[in-house]
Amino acid sequence: MLRALDLRFRYRDDGLWVVDGASLAVKPGEAVAIMGPSGTGKTTLLHLLCGLFLPVEGEVWLQGAQLSAFSDRARSRIRLERFGFVFQFGELVPELTVLENVALPLMLAGRPRREAERRARDQLDALGVGRYGSRRVAEISGGEAQRVAIARALVHDPDVVLADEPTGALDEATSERVIESLVDPTVRGNTALVVATHDSLVAEAMDRVLVLVDGMLKER
Ligand SMILES: Nc1ncnc2c1ncn2[C@@H]1O[C@H](COP(=O)(O)OP(=O)(O)O)[C@@H](O)[C@H]1O
Ligand SMILES: [Mg+2]
Repeated sequence: MLRALDLRFRYRDDGLWVVDGASLAVKPGEAVAIMGPSGTGKTTLLHLLCGLFLPVEGEVWLQGAQLSAFSDRARSRIRLERFGFVFQFGELVPELTVLENVALPLMLAGRPRREAERRARDQLDALGVGRYGSRRVAEISGGEAQRVAIARALVHDPDVVLADEPTGALDEATSERVIESLVDPTVRGNTALVVATHDSLVAEAMDRVLVLVDGMLKER
């Protein structure tokens, strides 16, 4: 589904390599953790995997297509339609209801509102947060917000979900529910999952754990 070959990236032409020979292959439905302490380049790597950054060297392939072959505009479109994102603090839109937040990726992709809201409702139900649809983001807890964020990441049936420290702001008990939601194959279907985390609870729940060391990914 998603393949990265020998990626190298640095933020400045004369800077240190943050990503330095990282390779990765994730199959449909597979869940992979990328571990490493803060500052090792996990977020940078996720940005490379979705074409937000282009590598200085190396290639990222989404199914049969190499991301760097597309224009910025086409890559934005690919991110919108074929990727889902979960961030540390949920990053839901506070002005919208829970249902509207989850419907948003479908609306942005041009789906009619009725269809978008129906699919959003189904996705919220699948994650056990269907009853919060009409609430504002400020009226749900951090753990609930993270499950809503997962619903939003999955609602358009993307090829890949990228999650960056999805439990970073949660306590252990709440994290467990969020992790269950992320790994549940009945919820995720064929969507591949790549999670950057330094939470070993998250890592243990994934199919595979890779460690980012000196800019390279190693099997643990
Ligand atoms: N926009 C940026 N410009 C310059 N350096 C950056 C930028 N973002 C991150 N870095 C540096 O790149 C390294 C990796 O950061 P990051 O990918 O955020 O690591 P992690 O997600 O593992 O904490 C760090 O040394 C960080 O300071
Ligand atoms: Mg990070």
